[in-house]
Order: sequence, then structure tokens, then C-alpha cells
Amino acid sequence: MSVAERAISYEPAMLEEKSEFALKTTRINNRRYLGNKYKLLSFIKSVVAESCEGVNSVADIFAGTGAVASAFTDKRLITNDNLYSNYICHLAWFSPQSYSREKIKRLVAYYNGLCVTGDNYMSDNFADTFFSRADCRKIGFIREDVETRFALGEINERERALLITSLLYASDKIANTCGHYDAFRQGVKIDRCLELSVPLPADSLNSGNRCYNEDTNELIKRVSADLVYIDPPYNSRQYCDAYHLLENIARWEKPKVSGVARKMDRTNLKSDYCTNKAAAAFEDLIANVSARYILLSYNNMAQKGNGRSNAKISDADIMRILSAKGEVKVFTRDYKPFSAGKSDIYEHAERLFFCICKQKERPIIQSPLNYTGGKFKLLNQILPYFPDRIDTFIDLFCGGCNVGVNVNAGRVIFNDNSPHLLCLYNAFKNLGKSTVLQMIEDFIAQYGLSRSTKNGYDFYGCESSAGLGDFNRKPFLRLREDFNKKNVDYKYYIMLYVLIVYAFNNQIRFNAKGKFNLPVGKRDFNDKMKSKLCAFLDRLSEGNYIFSCLDFREVDTAALTENSLVYCDPPYLIACATYNERNSWNERCEHSLYAVLDALDTRNIKFALSNVVSSKGKTNTILAKWLSQRNYRTIHLNYSYSNSNYHTKDKTQSTDEVLIVNY
Ligand SMILES: C[S@@+](CC[C@H](N)C(=O)[O-])C[C@H]1O[C@@H](n2cnc3c(N)ncnc32)[C@H](O)[C@@H]1O
Repeated sequence: MSVAERAISYEPAMLEEKSEFALKTTRINNRRYLGNKYKLLSFIKSVVAESCEGVNSVADIFAGTGAVASAFTDKRLITNDNLYSNYICHLAWFSPQSYSREKIKRLVAYYNGLCVTGDNYMSDNFADTFFSRADCRKIGFIREDVETRFALGEINERERALLITSLLYASDKIANTCGHYDAFRQGVKIDRCLELSVPLPADSLNSGNRCYNEDTNELIKRVSADLVYIDPPYNSRQYCDAYHLLENIARWEKPKVSGVARKMDRTNLKSDYCTNKAAAAFEDLIANVSARYILLSYNNMAQKGNGRSNAKISDADIMRILSAKGEVKVFTRDYKPFSAGKSDIYEHAERLFFCICKQKERPIIQSPLNYTGGKFKLLNQILPYFPDRIDTFIDLFCGGCNVGVNVNAGRVIFNDNSPHLLCLYNAFKNLGKSTVLQMIEDFIAQYGLSRSTKNGYDFYGCESSAGLGDFNRKPFLRLREDFNKKNVDYKYYIMLYVLIVYAFNNQIRFNAKGKFNLPVGKRDFNDKMKSKLCAFLDRLSEGNYIFSCLDFREVDTAALTENSLVYCDPPYLIACATYNERNSWNERCEHSLYAVLDALDTRNIKFALSNVVSSKGKTNTILAKWLSQRNYRTIHLNYSYSNSNYHTKDKTQSTDEVLIVNY
């Protein structure tokens, strides 16, 4: 590139007046792409409108051009494609990042006015193949210039994506191919000239839109949406082969190319869906989909066309795999729905497999700890107010874990500032059920504690009403003494669990010196305690649970999205519980908590807060004032249902138990 060219490249305004009036604009569908569903959008939209309810988010996980996502820009979108050249277009069309259209127009006008005389990577490798030498020079120059401007901070990520998209669309328009880059037409005079257009994305896009560039089978483990649209390759034609040149331009890593079609190394871009692994990949994908609805496009050329266009997954496999996920219907272009098993669906060229996913039914379980302030009794009133789909749930003051352990979420982070509690949960999670149960039995035997389920009350010389306190007092005190000597390992925390089981009311309480200080209780490791513990240990082994022991102000919320939920069940300022006996929760904490919640709200992150506005004749005036100054929603719960005396011993006066949400 000559110095003169470089010099003008930073003064786009010079060309603006001359050429801007002639600028063309472009929309998402203005390109050729194998398997592009643009023409099917009305079909797809009508199936969704007819068959789905309350769809607020759509994931187009083999998005290609992004045409299907473009039909749902009123929703929150997730797009994905393993080709970077598609991903960069998705950023252009769907990213919520703001950009300057004026800047794009100025640069497009400038690029269109260029005449590039020096050679570069494009002309050195592709001159007079897919493009003329002149156009290759121009494409190479523009692509380099976009990268330079981005590195200099002149354009942001969205503007970079819009300019690359404009270049890809313009290049594809003039390419000397019949739609893909497996070969170019030899011996034809290439007389079309590169002309960039200004891409026009939708004006208003959801701020939660996210675009990804990875293998869908990996991504699907981390994302969820109300509707997941699946449009994988159907046959052995790899998209990275068909679009290697656009991918090369988009990536701009300037790799070595070889062969007549000048392809770069594409080893890492090959898709399993184009190989004999397709059915296994599809089965794995569907197993990991987290959605209410799945819509699948799959061509039915199986065994009809030539070998290369034969579909890689049989209809029988599709039906089997989708039916395991939920109820399946097949829609054909004539909008005729067929129920699973009908053979004539195969005669229709355009089919959509629609699946209403079975939602995992998980029983509500109770914490194995009788944690003061536990929300178990209020769960049936609280859980319905939580969003259906939660990617990350933070149980910020997790206590007994009753809430987090009963929430459907991609992952749950349990936080509490009690180190004993968190070490106990970590011991549960890391040791697993059989080891934990064995260790409990060993401690019971070692200290000679009662085991009434095995031996009956008579064996210990007492009745159920009086309880096992007299028998267990001495061994319990020995266990407590040993525990308080502190010997920090997993074994030690299982010892804590045994202490809790045999302690007064199965509670957990430490004195100012950090010593467990409850007296012996009436009960032991009976069947009820054991089954609560087993259900909890099973649940911990099934999901993605993380335990953290931090002050609530220190918990990292940076990675949360609009689909996350932070649930707070803090100590109640106007009601005393054992964990607040030394008044560790005060007005300063109360103010800090509201500041944390306001900050989440500003970032569009959902929160739900449990509290009481008034109780036992007292009012939490800080809470009442905060609520009066905000637009949060206050849901009044029926406290008497909780039938628990955990925050006050006085059951006669009413307590206004509330759930406050910002969504
Ligand atoms: C049939 S096309 C999708 C067409 C798209 N619906 C449209 O309207 O433009 C399939 C897409 O899946 C992408 N793909 C193939 N295997 C993939 C994988 N394992 N992960 C992510 N994307 C993949 C291909 O690059 C291609 O763009």
C-alpha cells in the first residue's frame, strides 16, 4: 500500500460529500447462504405464534446468516455459529452495543471511493480467482483498515462488525462463484466491482442479546432460552469448505492457502453434523437443551438425492431423540401438523419438528439443618414469583439453603458469612452421600450416642416424649468438646453435623469465641433426619452448586446477566434470630444491602428480597422508606402459613412478611 493511500485512509470525510448520496443500504437477507431460512420465516413465525406461549427469549444456535433470529428481534436473542464470518454478522445485526450510523456511512462512502494500487494478502493469494486483482486489492485494503481503526479505538466492536459485515456482503455479491467457494468459474471475465452498502440493523434490540462463536454442543450447556431453534447442517457439505474465503476475510489471520480453490486449513472448523457422528451429536445436544420449546429444521433428502446431499440424521432418530425430551409434533409447509409416528411427514420438503419440553419435576426438599429463619414453609409462596429460566441464582444469605436448593437454575451460588456452615456444605458436596453417611455412623458409634431408629427408645431407657437427652448428654458434651478443639478438615465438619443432630432443637449456634454452645437435645439421627440429609446430598450431586463464604457486599456479581436472580434472605432488622443475637446485623448493614440491590437494578439484574416490614408492633422504617422511594414490587406473603416462630416468639401480633422484587 502506498504512503498516499495510507494518508487518505484516515480522512474519510474528504469523500463524504461526493459519494454519500449514492450509498446503498443492506439488510440481513441480502446474501446467499446454503440452507438459509429467510424464505421460511413466515412459516416458522406462524408455528411459534400458534404453538408457544410466553416466549421472551429465542436462541438460534446454528444461526448461519441469522435470518431466523431476525424474525424475533422483539425478544431477547442468543445467536451462535462456529464460523467467525457468521458470528461477526450476528454482532452487526443483533449486538445491543450502540454505534454511530454516521460513522459507518462515512467509512463506507470512503471505501467505495478508493482505488487501491498496491498488492496485499488478498491480491497475492486470490487475484483473478474469485475476484479480480483490483477487487482483491480493495478487499484486502479495507479489511486491514478496519482492523487498524479498531486497534486505534476509532471504531468500537459493533462498528468493526458492521464494517466487516458490509465487506463480506459486498464481496459475496461480486464473487465469481455459483454461491459457494468450493470452486470459481474458470476463464470468465470478472467485470463486477466491489461496492459496499450500509447495513441497517433493527433500531431497537434487547439489551440482553448475546452472540457466540463456538461449538453449539458446548455452548448449550451454559445457555437457556424459552425457545431454542435448531438448524444444523443436514449433509456432508461442510460450511467451512463452502465459505472458506469469507471466513478467511473475516478472521484476517492471513493463513497459507492451497489448492485450486485456495482454501486455508479448516481442521478446527469441521462440524460433526456433516459426518457419521451427526446423530450422536444431536442426541447430546438435545439432552443438554434448557428450554420450554425446541424447533428443529431438518431437510428430508435422506436416501433420495445423491450421496453428498443425503441427510446425516434419520427421521427415526430425530423422532426418538426429540420424543425423549417432550411431546413432538411435525409441521409441514402447508401448516398441517402431524403427530409423532405418521409416515407421510416424510413426503413434505419443508418440515419443522416442534417439541414441548418436559420440565424436570423436582420435589421440594427441606434443609437438613433446622436453620433459624429457614424459608422452607414459605417456599410454595415464594418460588412462583421467580422467573422460569434462571442462568445463575445467588442465594446471598443462604442459611439452611432451603431456597437455592429448590430453584431451577443453570447454577446456584450459595453464600453466607458463616464459615462453619459453608465448610459443612462443602464437606457434604465433596465427600458425597455414602462417605458422609458412613462417617456419621462412625461418630455415633465412637461417642456412644443413641440410634433410636435401630434400637428403639426402650433400649435407652426413655420414652419418646421425654426424649433421649438424658442418655445422650455425656457423649454429646464429649463430642462438643472435641469439636471445639478445632481440627479443620472434612471429618471435623461432619462432626459438626452430628453435633447439630443431637443438639437442642437441631440448631446451630456459636458463642463469641466461635465455640458451639447449644446443650443436648431430645432427638437423634432418626429416619426423618436421615432422609432429609439424603435428599439434600442427592440434590447437591445433581446440579451445579457453588458455595462461598463472603460478606454479602463482597460477592462478585460481574458475570450475572438479565437472566440471573439474586435472592436475599438477610437477618431481619426488627426481629431477632440466633445468628443476630450479638446484633451483627444493624442499620448500616440494612442500608448497604439496599445499595447493593439498587446497583443490581441499575444493571438490569433481577433480585428478590425476603423481609418483614412490620412485626410485633415494630416497623422497619429503613425498609419502608426505601420501598416508598422505589418502584419495586412488594408481594405480601401469608405469614401464618409459615406456622413457624422463627423471628418472634409472639404469634399473636401480625407480621407483614414480604417478598420484594424488581421485575
Ligand atoms: C443450515 S445452516 C443454518 C442456516 C440459518 N438458519 C440461516 O437461516 O441462515 C447451519 C449452520 O450451522 C453452523 N454449524 C455447523 N456445525 C456447528 C457446530 N457444531 N456449532 C455451531 N455451529 C455449527 C454452520 O456454520 C452453518 O452456518
